Amino acid sequence: MSRDPSHDILFDTIEIGPKRMKNRFWQTTHCMGAGSERPGTQAHFRGMKAEGGWGTVCTEYCSVHPESDEYPWTSARLWDEGDVINLGYLCDIAHSHGALAGVQLWYSGIHAINMESREVPRGATQLSSNVWSSRTVYAAEMDEHDIQAVINMYVEGAKRAEAAGFDILEVSGGDSTLPVQFLERRYNKRSDKYGGSFENRARFYLELMTALKQACGDSCAVTTRFEVDTLMGADGIQATDEGIRFVELLSKEGVCDLWAVKIGDYEEWGEDAGPSRFRKSGWMTPFVKQVKGVVGDTPVVVNGRFTSPDDMVALITGGVADIIGGARPSIADPFLPKKIEEGRLDDIRECIGCNMCVSKFVQIGQLQCTQNATAMEEYRRGWHPEKFDKTESPCSVLVVGGGPAGMECARVLGERGYDVHLREAEDALGGHWKDVVRMPRLEEWARVITYREAQLAKLKSVEVHLGVGEMSADHVLSYGADKVVIATGARWLGDGMSPLGHAPIPGADAAAPYCLTPEQVMAGKEVPGGRVVVVDGDGHFTAIALAEMMADQGKEVTYVTCMAEVSEYGAFTLDLFNNKRMLQEKNIAHHRDTWVESITADSITLYNIYRQGPDLHDPVAGESPRNQSTKTLELPCDAAILVTSRASNDALYRELKARRGEWAAQEIQDIYRIGDCHAPRQALNAIFDGHRLAREFDSPHPQYPLPWIRERQIWQAETYPKLGDARPNIEPEP
Ligand SMILES: Cc1cc2nc3c(=O)[nH]c(=O)nc-3n(C[C@H](O)[C@H](O)[C@H](O)COP(=O)(O)O)c2cc1C
Ligand code: SF4
Repeated sequence: MSRDPSHDILFDTIEIGPKRMKNRFWQTTHCMGAGSERPGTQAHFRGMKAEGGWGTVCTEYCSVHPESDEYPWTSARLWDEGDVINLGYLCDIAHSHGALAGVQLWYSGIHAINMESREVPRGATQLSSNVWSSRTVYAAEMDEHDIQAVINMYVEGAKRAEAAGFDILEVSGGDSTLPVQFLERRYNKRSDKYGGSFENRARFYLELMTALKQACGDSCAVTTRFEVDTLMGADGIQATDEGIRFVELLSKEGVCDLWAVKIGDYEEWGEDAGPSRFRKSGWMTPFVKQVKGVVGDTPVVVNGRFTSPDDMVALITGGVADIIGGARPSIADPFLPKKIEEGRLDDIRECIGCNMCVSKFVQIGQLQCTQNATAMEEYRRGWHPEKFDKTESPCSVLVVGGGPAGMECARVLGERGYDVHLREAEDALGGHWKDVVRMPRLEEWARVITYREAQLAKLKSVEVHLGVGEMSADHVLSYGADKVVIATGARWLGDGMSPLGHAPIPGADAAAPYCLTPEQVMAGKEVPGGRVVVVDGDGHFTAIALAEMMADQGKEVTYVTCMAEVSEYGAFTLDLFNNKRMLQEKNIAHHRDTWVESITADSITLYNIYRQGPDLHDPVAGESPRNQSTKTLELPCDAAILVTSRASNDALYRELKARRGEWAAQEIQDIYRIGDCHAPRQALNAIFDGHRLAREFDSPHPQYPLPWIRERQIWQAETYPKLGDARPNIEPEP
């Protein structure tokens, strides 16, 4: 297939300072958990995007000096020769695919927690960090000497970046970093020439860009990532006021080769990396458009979960931006530009905006993606998102269950040349995900199903059988497949069993009319009366979504969770604050640190899980050593929705395993289980499980993952720096 001519504009070359980008696809700065510490993972992850056609691939935020360190979160770093070597590998791979390599120069000022370096950061004003409010994080207020020293740190970092091979030096002026702390009134309380008036507050950022341009501007593009609006109204930076005045100032001075624009600040970076529950594709466009309006020919990058080439073209022809940025779209599909170029739009694996990628990084892990099981596995497992080793021992495989894990497993088995039958009891593919995508705000998540459905339909070696009802063990054994994969999912428990105490709730029984599981709600079981309590022992999206659904149906809703936060996992996916705003807006009462003592047909009795008090008594057999307390809160209620915990639908697998003696007679070589049937889990892990099994299907024991490459320092290898090495001098000349 060839590219649709209406998309040609996306493949124009773009000049960025002294560099030329081969098209308009820019993989925007985003963290992933490898930094400079795991060079193979970093380089092959970014390199895959370069191979997939992104004209520029950027690192995550990259510390220019140990005074700004966010350990244990893994940023890139440009502190010494070791980092130059490690990040140099990324540049080499990016260049080998014709892409430019960008690095985001980062100094966090008053938000630098410095848990590794233990150094004291410098800031515009000595204030307590509002990002890490409880951690006693302050900076030392900078005098003019410090200002020059910090600019020198950036310049030293930039020179190391240049030595590593980077083409683009992007100053982070987003996520409330130091340049923004100078610019923004709420961080800058100075009364010298760096504080007070707008011009004074802009001075540090301007001097920094000027210094970088002078030091590296002939060979590298010097650009910035700027938060043009902090969404705080007149208290912060506004796109219609100081945000745009700053863009004009830097443009006039000619010290910025490209603007990559974002909104929001570090406390609430979910306004930038907006989850699809609250932000639809393109939500930043009105802000970015202001920037393009004042920078003339200087290129502007726009982000906003863009996956449709038509939308991308409209952004360019509509004068919003020159370059299409993609952080999450490039994670979900590193080959997005190539697929547009080749006119293979059906094959685009669109990001669903679930922010599971963010959530893994926020938990100090490494990025993972719901849509792309190969993300971060490029180096350590050698997986390519578009290439699959053909099997040398093709055989027939029966996959039982067409939920996310079963679909993914069947897809990859089909790509590998196995003869696959995917059998789904219901009339449509998707399993429990079909319910999920009908809950409020989750419609974009349907792409998990639609992408796989479309891919399966193209695979000649996969037959999909729908509406075939649940398979019995006898049927599986006599089906005629060489190998079997059981992917029968999981179900919500109807007795209120939860992580708290691992005990059912007295009176909870989904067989009663007044108790419902999420599946029952979505299957249309009547929710009686006007007062509903949603009981959340799960902490992810299901309970909060059902609470909103009930409120939208006009019910009086109370949300109860044993956890410290409403929909606690939302803190990791950056949904938390808007979840709270939604509860306020829809008058949904909520109780945290609270659980359920009992449920009846007309009431629910709640208790605070810390009601027993802090003191311990001497131990007495059969008694709790804490103070006894029977404090409760009884709420009248007509229905309780139990989102408490799940259990695998593994009865079929267990029966088949128990009948292992019959397999040989039926010529069955092996039977595996994947996804929620193995253990209930987040969808991305279920999908990964199906993908991994299929990738390793011809290994000796496919149920067990093969070893992967573990990047770590091996004892006695050389270290950078060595004890006793000097640091580059960043002190200004006297
Ligand atoms: C996992 C993750 C990490 C991110 N890390 C950074 C970062 O280090 N620096 C930065 O400026 N933006 C960072 N961002 C924000 C993105 O660059 C981008 O502005 C945002 O995700 C919206 O673009 P998108 O819709 O194309 O994903 C990150 C986003 C994600 C998803
Ligand atoms: S994890 Fe979700 S939000 Fe992140 S890139 Fe993948 S699909 Fe998109």
